[in-house]
Amino acid sequence: MSAKLLSGKEVSEAMLAKVLEDAEALIADGVQPKLAIMRVGADPGSISYEKSIIKRMGNSKIEVESVEFPVDVTQEEFVGKLRELNGDKDIHAVLIFKPLPEQLDEEEIKYALSPEKDPDALNPTNLGKLMIADETGFFPCTAEGVMELFKFYGIDVKGKDVTIINNSNVLGKPLAIMLTNEFATVTLAHVFTKDTSAYTKNADIVVTAAGIYGLVKPEMLNEDCILIDVAMAQKKDADGNFVLNDEGKKIRTGDAHEDCKDKVAAITSATPGCGGGTGPITTALLAQHVIKACRQQNA
Ligand SMILES: NC(=O)c1ccc[n+]([C@@H]2O[C@H](COP(=O)([O-])OP(=O)(O)OC[C@H]3O[C@@H](n4cnc5c(N)ncnc54)[C@H](O)[C@@H]3O)[C@@H](O)[C@H]2O)c1
Repeated sequence: MSAKLLSGKEVSEAMLAKVLEDAEALIADGVQPKLAIMRVGADPGSISYEKSIIKRMGNSKIEVESVEFPVDVTQEEFVGKLRELNGDKDIHAVLIFKPLPEQLDEEEIKYALSPEKDPDALNPTNLGKLMIADETGFFPCTAEGVMELFKFYGIDVKGKDVTIINNSNVLGKPLAIMLTNEFATVTLAHVFTKDTSAYTKNADIVVTAAGIYGLVKPEMLNEDCILIDVAMAQKKDADGNFVLNDEGKKIRTGDAHEDCKDKVAAITSATPGCGGGTGPITTALLAQHVIKACRQQNA
């Protein structure tokens, strides 16, 4: 049996249509929604991610101001600019690209970012709001994206057994709280879990985000399982070498092995043929959060 393919792109398109409507309403009221991006250095991966954000925000009529810092930027300069953006009434949200260079103190930076302008929940105030389901807060986009996918496809998580393979602050931990708030029963597996498959085999839903192609295999899943693969990885062979496509390029995947789609009930993964994964939803949520911040600051 082949799984139903869940498409993150389809979810994101529906979300972005609503974002555009909301942005147009704000603009008609004389408020231009605007995001600032703070980026240190010119790493090609970050530049290309920034370009894709600017394009998507542009399509949603959200302006973007990019602030680039040299790799040797000081803490004082970085935090000084951040405080300036916090106080700028025309900027509604500030996205700080990570990883930050070693000389910058992320502990100070995450508290310095105004929680009202924090679209990806870097400031612990927003993580606290997540804990008590306070909807005025901003929750991490990647984790909230998984909940959006459930909502879009009418997947009711109440009473379901969910295993998440990831315990990071941006995915596993916040998603576990969101799911618990919706009365799912959640297990977090991670790199020190003795036997991950013991927790995935009987799960109704498995969410995976380890970044290791082939970590999730069909024999770890049951036939009724819904597999949500958030990871962005690249295909490797049994010896750990990258597998290249006909054009000599690395093949993008998630954690799931291709054969998972022939086992489970529904799947999304960046692994070819598995629905594409959740990546586009993350950016759509960022846009949604800019609109929310803009509204809250202009209420
Ligand atoms: N779809 C998106 O929008 C999006 C956004 C952010 C990150 N990601 C992807 O999600 C993945 C995770 O990102 P992150 O920032 O949380 O990374 P991370 O390195 O902080 O987390 C990796 C997690 O995988 C777990 N893990 C690693 N090996 C494991 C194993 N053998 N068995 C069980 N668990 C194992 C670790 O314990 C950890 O919890 C990456 O592939 C990243 O590219 C996707």
